[in-house]
Amino acid sequence: MIAVPIGILTAVYLVEYGQGKRLARAISFFVDLMMGVPSIVAGLFIYAFWLLALGFQFSGFAGALALVILMLPVVVRNSEEMLKLVPSELREASYALGVPKWRTITKVVLPTAFSGIVTGIVLGIARAMGETAPLLLLVGTNPKINFDPFSLSLTDPNPNPMTTLPTYIFEQLTTAAGSTTAPAFYRAWAAALVLTDHHHHVVERAGAVRRPVHQGPRLATRRTRIAMAKSIDVSDLNVYYGKFLAVEGVSMTVEPRSVTAFIGPSGCGKSTFLRTLNRMHEVIPGARVEGKVLLDGEDIYHSSVDPVNVRRTIGMVFQRPNPFPTMSIYDNVVAGLKLQGRQPKKKLDEIVEKALKGANLWNEVSDRLSKPGAGLSGGQQQRLCIARAIAVEPQVLLMDEPCSALDPISTLAIEDLISELKERYTIVIVTHNMQQAARVSDRTAFFNLAAVGKPGKLIEMADTQKIFTNPSQKGTEDYITGRFG
Ligand SMILES: Nc1ncnc2c1ncn2[C@@H]1O[C@H](COP(=O)(O)OP(=O)(O)O)[C@@H](O)[C@H]1O
Ligand SMILES: [Mg+2]
Repeated sequence: MIAVPIGILTAVYLVEYGQGKRLARAISFFVDLMMGVPSIVAGLFIYAFWLLALGFQFSGFAGALALVILMLPVVVRNSEEMLKLVPSELREASYALGVPKWRTITKVVLPTAFSGIVTGIVLGIARAMGETAPLLLLVGTNPKINFDPFSLSLTDPNPNPMTTLPTYIFEQLTTAAGSTTAPAFYRAWAAALVLTDHHHHVVERAGAVRRPVHQGPRLATRRTRIAMAKSIDVSDLNVYYGKFLAVEGVSMTVEPRSVTAFIGPSGCGKSTFLRTLNRMHEVIPGARVEGKVLLDGEDIYHSSVDPVNVRRTIGMVFQRPNPFPTMSIYDNVVAGLKLQGRQPKKKLDEIVEKALKGANLWNEVSDRLSKPGAGLSGGQQQRLCIARAIAVEPQVLLMDEPCSALDPISTLAIEDLISELKERYTIVIVTHNMQQAARVSDRTAFFNLAAVGKPGKLIEMADTQKIFTNPSQKGTEDYITGRFG
């Protein structure tokens, strides 16, 4: 029972916070080591350490502790694998709704990995139970008499305890205990550090959520916000993945209550640039930006601005529909609100209906709101994701190729929806489909890159009509007439 929370917390740390950190690597190493050690040896070792080195009494608790330490690596390693299997799309979907990281982990990542984690716990218990047999032998036997199950010590008139294997092991451990405390100590320290570090993160995040209410004039408060489109001004933006400069020197203005399309060949940085507009880019380890992004004049990268708030204000829809698989249609729509904080049920009902109507999905799903969101068709799932995004009342909606995984009919449904939504929102859409850009957008930005490995750049941005009929750059003309890309 002790092993379960510690094991899961360790796994959460390793997967969600640990990436590449030295502490995480050290823990991983110890977990591997403990997995590899035959469990009987590990059990006896811990037992000897606890009893002899720390001088605790021979007790049931000491025995339980040994079992905990046996279960721990199984639980950690298995939970870690299960957490890694949770698609990063789901984490991103949650972040994009303006949900802080720790809530994303507890409400989205852990439930999704739940069944797998339970399997790991059962395996861990099985491992511990397997060890209960030898342990009983140890606990139940007077330490002064022999441990050998074969010599029948109680009846044998001439027991010879010193020659038998279990006694030998016990002897060895007794003598070794003094010199082997060091690794055991490290283990204790590592576990303690994991806990304090995790605690630290939680406290930090919790602080970050509460803080913004008092800060920043407009980005901050939800309550004062009516759905109101905003403009985005980008100046001299460089976007990096580690050392790699993916997008260079972009300056542009995105008009409110309009649709702006980003087009360009694959790999030119459209998605990368789009994700900098709501600070989703920095979710990727090592990713960073230089330059300014102003939302109605307010710098979203200013140090006093919380990215969580930015993402509530600037919503996002992803290329592949990514409804939360453990949630119903209803819960998917209100996921952003629920994960951000409590709301009365009646209000939520209203919001669900409004958002689903807004996403043109209400008629199709109103009679099965409690069914899983994953049971819908691809096109419906994508509209569900749009409903989920608009339910938190953002002011800007970013869409990264929202139709590329959909059939033509669903695509048209989404395009109609975009035309309706632009009355209320500022919309930026990345698309591979030039007809789509021509159909839905008011302004179009063409991105290109000189060669693979070179940074992508904004080549030209103008009214869609002009880009498609009379572009001022040769590169744009080549691309839209299909001469390359
Ligand atoms: N997570 C990442 N880590 C490192 N490089 C990345 C990552 N995502 C994208 N890139 C690189 O950034 C460049 C732009 O990619 P992307 O924005 O996905 O292009 P587009 O959306 O225009 O097809 C590519 O060279 C791509 O390999
Ligand atoms: Mg892309």
